[in-house]
Amino acid sequence: MSLQFCEYVSLAPYTTFKIGGPARWFAEATSEDEILEATDFARSRNLPLFILGGGSNLLVSDEGFPGLVLHIALRGIEQAYHLFRVGAGENWDEFVTYAVAQNYGGVECLAGIPGTVGGTPVQNVGAYGQEVAETIAAVRVLDLNSLEVKDLPPAKCKFSYRRSIFNSTQRGRYIVTRVDYALRKDGPAHLAYLDLKKHFAGASEPSLGEVSSAVRRIRHQKGMLIADGDPDCRSAGSFFKNPIIGAERFSRIAAKFVAAVPSYPAGEGFFKVPAAWLVEQAGFHKGYALGPAGISSRHTLALINRGNAKATDILALRDQIVAAVERQFRIRLEPEPVFLGAETLGPEFKL
Ligand code: EPU
Repeated sequence: MSLQFCEYVSLAPYTTFKIGGPARWFAEATSEDEILEATDFARSRNLPLFILGGGSNLLVSDEGFPGLVLHIALRGIEQAYHLFRVGAGENWDEFVTYAVAQNYGGVECLAGIPGTVGGTPVQNVGAYGQEVAETIAAVRVLDLNSLEVKDLPPAKCKFSYRRSIFNSTQRGRYIVTRVDYALRKDGPAHLAYLDLKKHFAGASEPSLGEVSSAVRRIRHQKGMLIADGDPDCRSAGSFFKNPIIGAERFSRIAAKFVAAVPSYPAGEGFFKVPAAWLVEQAGFHKGYALGPAGISSRHTLALINRGNAKATDILALRDQIVAAVERQFRIRLEPEPVFLGAETLGPEFKL
């Protein structure tokens, strides 16, 4: 028995929001065996289990969590040519830096995203025209149904926009222990996104390093880079998903505006509309405050903890925004972060 189980551990420091009450039990696993040990502990005491990665996409309730929070700290990057086998507890941005430094492409636009590698397949992390589904070769998991370790090929993960089996149909079944990335030696860098194209306008083919540095700069400008006590960064990144709507609905909205409504194509007959734009049109602005909760001064989609905010303060602001957008556009914004204990629908793992 090597795992240490601690009691009443405050979860706030483990989240980028810096919000949340205590975990009744807390442990940190550095191997697949330790994960199994932790699941045994929870099962034998009939405790709900929650898997914590980087805490960058998480809002923990003020009451905390009555079960076992297992912090995944499996480390290691093994490289065989273009294949990178990365422990779930590795810091995502450090992995991007490592790959780009060796001139391997495929994740350069995902620089500066907070969180750990294990979280990336769960919500199919994406930014600036790239998403992890494009480069994941396999996801190694512990299957809690059979207690076996398995390597799931990408087709089995059913990736789509901010979605996979891990956060939808099979939620609570698998614990990610490692992600295998198949990258491309020598690029070329992926330049699909407007902000990035503008940044490199006129320049000849930028290198992978130049693109990842540009992404970090753009993220920093938008307060979407975790940095040095900056209150705009006490957030969970984008708080809402960008809604996908049908063409007819989109043209009805567009008809009400003189200027063009921003959108991205989202498959035949569908458009993705930036939630940030909808939120602004519904009357909110960067820097908006509702008590200690607020909207980032640099990006309307990031709800922030202005200082000593409780989860309930963030949820009150969420409710205000969702209601206003729904009133004006008949679109119900869906939150992007995971809620732990704060909602009836908890993301606990089934044992
Ligand atoms: N916009 C505003 N106000 C703002 C910011 C943006 O109106 O303050 C509108 C503009 O029309 C802008 C458009 O929203 O052109 C898109 O903005 P941005 O490029 O910043 O991207 P986003 O759609 O808001 C998504 C992801 C981010 C990702 C960026 C860059 C989602 C929910 N969010 O944001 O991911 O970094 O694209 O690719 O898909 C995250 O998931 O936590 C996240 C940060």
